[in-house]
Amino acid sequence: MSKRAFIKSYGCQMNVYDSERMADALAEAGFDESRDAGDADLIVLNTCHIREKATEKIYSELGRYKALKAENPDLQVVVAGCVAQAEGEEIVRRQPMVDVVVGPQAYHRLPELVARAAYGGTQVDTEFDAHSKFDRLPGASARKSNPTAFLTVQEGCDKFCTFCVVPYTRGAEMSRPVERVRSEAERLVARGVCEITLLGQNVNAYHGIGPDGQEWSLARLITDLAGIERLERIRFTTSHPNEMTDDLIEAHAGCDKLMPYLHLPVQSGSDRILRKMNRRYTASEYVGLVEKIRSARPDILLSSDFIVGFPEESEGDFEATLELVREVGFGQSYSFKYSSRPGTPAGERPQIDPGVAAERLGRLQELLKSQQRQAQDAMVGQDVSVLFERNGRRDGQLVGKSEYLHAVHADCETEMIGRIRRVSVTRSEPNSLAGTVLGN
Ligand code: 5AD
Ligand code: SF4
Repeated sequence: MSKRAFIKSYGCQMNVYDSERMADALAEAGFDESRDAGDADLIVLNTCHIREKATEKIYSELGRYKALKAENPDLQVVVAGCVAQAEGEEIVRRQPMVDVVVGPQAYHRLPELVARAAYGGTQVDTEFDAHSKFDRLPGASARKSNPTAFLTVQEGCDKFCTFCVVPYTRGAEMSRPVERVRSEAERLVARGVCEITLLGQNVNAYHGIGPDGQEWSLARLITDLAGIERLERIRFTTSHPNEMTDDLIEAHAGCDKLMPYLHLPVQSGSDRILRKMNRRYTASEYVGLVEKIRSARPDILLSSDFIVGFPEESEGDFEATLELVREVGFGQSYSFKYSSRPGTPAGERPQIDPGVAAERLGRLQELLKSQQRQAQDAMVGQDVSVLFERNGRRDGQLVGKSEYLHAVHADCETEMIGRIRRVSVTRSEPNSLAGTVLGN
């Protein structure tokens, strides 16, 4: 009888991609996928270390699996991802029931580690070896016949923002070769995927080796992928403002398949805080960049990440962030209270009062929410292209995403799942748009 693996993913989209690759590798080793931890022989937690809350969630989840392990002594528990990389042996000390700890660059060895743990006790593998991981993991397989897929093209980060654990958990920046990316994209498209999101912690720093032996930029990679006939939409995330090169901005103007949506984290609007964060741009440089992007692609929807309560952030610094938000206007955003991370330079600085940080986060989120509302409401009366992804809540209704990544629902035949239709937007609802499908 084949064994069953339950995989739970936390954190970013790259973890979602990695979880699927681990599922593929485990399938080759004879594991079927399970949707329920309760009937699994193997539980894999693909973890996130970006903020303290994300890390603590893992330990409480592991606590729950103790009972399962008492019922089934053959059950194996794996901690993968960035907590595994950052905390290694410490995880086994805190939760001795863990069988395998595997970092993000060692996933190709997961089946072997699981087999060894069955005999030889706990296995901990946090080696950095990104190239051999991609060489040896099965490529994206689109097992769930979803019309959209993620594809990692770049991993790791050399930017060392002072608040961020990514350079330590994911390691140095590396780009996959163009031909690898292209063949993985072709395989996805052959299985019915029509929208691919290219992933990287610093995706616009992509510089993979092309078939000509030269380093290719992300813009050149996107232009190449746009040549795949049945690939209809391309997106990429996450970008650093300093890597938004002219050719990438031009791709937003000239490449029809590149969607008008850009996630461009600014983090703060205060030059003093940006300097302390080691972001290496000023607020006005960011605003200038946005102007340039908008003149290339006026309808582009911008999204951003923000951190409030960074060490030494004053009321004036915070107000500069509000000012930048008012000036730019974001259609989507993610904002966080600063969380001190072990081993990062900012982690050693005196923290600001948590109550003050919470109050600032509330004010920022109110402003961001109202901008988001406005951007969504402004779609009413417009026609958008919707890639339908699944059935909606009501019978006869489908749900999909517009080019601007708004969720849109409309009455439409089920056969249209995986297809793009023009939709006239009639209503803006709390978390989605409603519309009517237009004739061909
Ligand atoms: N505290 C709070 N937010 C953080 N982020 C990264 N590190 C931290 C931290 N220590 C946020 C940044 C980043 C997003 C993925 O998470 O805004 O862009
Ligand atoms: Fe972290 Fe992004 Fe800065 Fe890299 S660029 S250190 S991933 S916040």
